[in-house]
Amino acid sequence: MQTKKPWRIGTRAKLLLRGLRYSSLLPYASIDGWLTVDEAIALYELGRALPDDHPRAVEIGSWQGKSTVCIAAGMRDKQQPVLTCIDPFDASGDAASADVYGDRADRLGGPLRRAFEQNLIDAAVREVVEVRQGFSHDQAQHVDGSLDLVFLDGDHGYDAVRQDFLDWGPKVRAGGYLAMHDVVHPVHEGPRRVVEELIANDPRWVEQRYVDSMFVARKASS
Ligand SMILES: C[S@@+](CC[C@H](N)C(=O)[O-])C[C@H]1O[C@@H](n2cnc3c(N)ncnc32)[C@H](O)[C@@H]1O
Repeated sequence: MQTKKPWRIGTRAKLLLRGLRYSSLLPYASIDGWLTVDEAIALYELGRALPDDHPRAVEIGSWQGKSTVCIAAGMRDKQQPVLTCIDPFDASGDAASADVYGDRADRLGGPLRRAFEQNLIDAAVREVVEVRQGFSHDQAQHVDGSLDLVFLDGDHGYDAVRQDFLDWGPKVRAGGYLAMHDVVHPVHEGPRRVVEELIANDPRWVEQRYVDSMFVARKASS
């Protein structure tokens, strides 16, 4: 006998219930990933809050572009927006994640980088994004500072997140934003420990807040 599935409101409906202005985020719902509706909206609003002229943002850990399309959609209508996305696109990651990434990548039936690019094209944000295929620590020396936004969602192991924060935190300009995913998480301890040990009590990081699992802070203006 068939059991009835409990009725659930879908991601698209949830987005639209937050306001019709989020309809530009609808493509995010069809992309594989781990971002809640409120996290998606928060990233979009961060993108929108960046300066109108030549805003520069960096995303560490893009996977198939779920968070990418949210940030990029927020930046899209500005002058010369650039969102630099850094990911090896080889499904590698911390011990707790690598098997999950590997299984999902196998089921994709094609390269991760291709899926990522296609998702950006479908969401009409490809022109906003500069892709740097590689690992965050290696790429850090090739990306100038004075960034308006850095979003950390790459390797979630403690040492890796700490290194990402040490590499990329100083590149956020005064008044710019830092966002970190999976800081409140039952498995990943790395992001939470880095926030607790290096950021939470540092007066240079102001306006600290959480959106679901995501931590957001702003670098003090002076
Ligand atoms: C949790 S997923 C990112 C999810 C994505 N932000 C989204 O919203 O769908 C983590 C990604 O970071 C990548 N990654 C792992 N180690 C990395 C590193 N050192 N530098 C950059 N990316 C890394 C993984 O291969 C994976 O694609």
